Amino acid sequence: MKKAVILSGAGISAESGISTFRDSDGLWEQYRVEDVATYEGWLRNRPLVMDFYNQRRKQLLEVQPNAGHYELARLEQAYEVHIITQNVDDLHERAGSKNVLHLHGELKKARSTVDPEYIVDIDGWELKDTMADPQGAPLRPHIVWFGEAVPLIEEASRISAAADFYIIVGTSLAVYPAAGLVHYVPPRVPKYVVDPKEVHAPVPNVKYIKEPASTGLKKVVDELLALRGEG
Ligand code: APR
Repeated sequence: MKKAVILSGAGISAESGISTFRDSDGLWEQYRVEDVATYEGWLRNRPLVMDFYNQRRKQLLEVQPNAGHYELARLEQAYEVHIITQNVDDLHERAGSKNVLHLHGELKKARSTVDPEYIVDIDGWELKDTMADPQGAPLRPHIVWFGEAVPLIEEASRISAAADFYIIVGTSLAVYPAAGLVHYVPPRVPKYVVDPKEVHAPVPNVKYIKEPASTGLKKVVDELLALRGEG
């Protein structure tokens, strides 16, 4: 089966009602990154950081995947689909996508502050500061903060290098190393960028679809399924 690889960002969840980061009403208009998305911010004011992620987790329990997520799940009928997402929500999984790699962590999981291998699901919306790992160390959100390592970037690079088709959707390509993944995709591989705004992918062989994910991804998926005689 041909491999279709997707690099998704906050924009694919916008139509589900989840704020992006850098749009006019984005999260970084409401919070300072250094306060809520860095290890130093966590050390400085743990309750503020816990509340930031608890509020986002509470919202996540109230929203649903949108047509964009479902289009990518539909693609699995004729392609081996790998989703590399910068998002920490679980909307790709809830829409039925099977292979989802979370580059920046997962909102619904917590991690030990001393043993990075100890990762647990958070039951409900609240990560309480009384929750601890078996050694009694406190838990933190299982999120990759700015300045922290991105453990899955090598695997994401390998997946990108093996793509037969590459779809970039809902990301401003502003944050590295995620944005650098596009350079691992072989130049001859057909690429698509789905975004209502001008987002330039500095690589060859790109088709731009200046639409929201819900309609733009339908166009891409219809085209790719037709290539395989499906649809
Ligand atoms: N459909 C598709 N794309 C959309 C939609 C939509 N309905 N609405 C907005 N967008 C686009 C915006 O035009 C923008 O290009 O989604 C993109 C969102 O960009 P960012 O807010 O920068 O989000 P993202 O690229 O995912 O940020 C990357 O930065 O803050 C960190 O860790 C955080 O994972 C995040 C990373």
